[in-house]
Amino acid sequence: MPPRPPAPYPAARLRRLRRTNALRDLVAETRLSAADLIWPVFIREGDGLEEPIPSMPGVARLSIDRLLARAEAAHALGITTICLFPYTDPALRTEDCEEAWNPDNITNRAIRALKAALPELSVMTDIALDPYNANGHDGFVVDGVIVNDATVEALVKMALAQADAGADILGPSDMMDGRIGAIRTALEQAGHADLAILSYAAKFASGFYGPFRDAVGAAGRLVGDKKTYQINPANRDEALRCVARDLDEGADMVMVKPGMPYLDICRAVKAEFGVPTFAYQVSGEYAMLRGAALNGWLDGEAVMMESLLAFRRAGCDGILTYFAPDAARLMRA
Ligand code: PBG
Repeated sequence: MPPRPPAPYPAARLRRLRRTNALRDLVAETRLSAADLIWPVFIREGDGLEEPIPSMPGVARLSIDRLLARAEAAHALGITTICLFPYTDPALRTEDCEEAWNPDNITNRAIRALKAALPELSVMTDIALDPYNANGHDGFVVDGVIVNDATVEALVKMALAQADAGADILGPSDMMDGRIGAIRTALEQAGHADLAILSYAAKFASGFYGPFRDAVGAAGRLVGDKKTYQINPANRDEALRCVARDLDEGADMVMVKPGMPYLDICRAVKAEFGVPTFAYQVSGEYAMLRGAALNGWLDGEAVMMESLLAFRRAGCDGILTYFAPDAARLMRA
């Protein structure tokens, strides 16, 4: 329902309800809680390691033991879900990407360790070949072309390995055609009928992924760009078609990515489909806000909370954000 237009002044003075904190809280239309946040975490081999990522100040690649400690603290702050992204040993990055479906790769070991230590914390995964690919692409590259159907077969193997390891939510982020249906069918056949898929459905070909590619070590490898599979930032109708398609193929939840420059897409997806809708406030958005705050140009806490609330206002049920623990801590205080 559109808001009722205000009565003429002075019958209406809209500032009356902005006068105190209590009044502002009482009439707040949107709220944010730690339970709305999914925390993306970078993992790597090692012991006792927290390796800082220069383009993402405050974010580090964690060895599994450190992941467990950080996850426990995040869970205690009310965060319900962690999403894992691997930094793969360079020696294991190949053209055939076999490490991606190795049951003992770093991601699958981390899933098992998390589920053993913190069974109530949900573990979300990423399904795409880029952290394992010699050339940094999300799919197989044959004669310079990112091939669709062979990639989907590999993604299915990757999904099944993550399902067997105990993941709670699978997150296909690759943007190949037909991958949600193929993964859903394989899960049904393998006895994983209850496993949730959060599809990166409306994923745009964005410059805001730069720091992430540093974090997973794909930046120096990427040959060309991802414009033949990720959506053109000019296109809204196409994004809605992608969401409709992924829902039809068996996605339980959908994501818009990046976040802040695409709030119109978040709004449209929620209004059109009414399904659980998430936004990914990606690495470049984090770097932008954190970098400016570290330079003293922005109030870091204020813009962090304002940006997260904006996703809720736009219609998102939740947000993937590198700020998750900081925001949860602030909300707890
Ligand atoms: C790739 C993937 C990307 C991100 C998540 N999964 C990068 C890309 O598509 O190049 C980006 C996340 C971020 O920037 O924080 N499978």
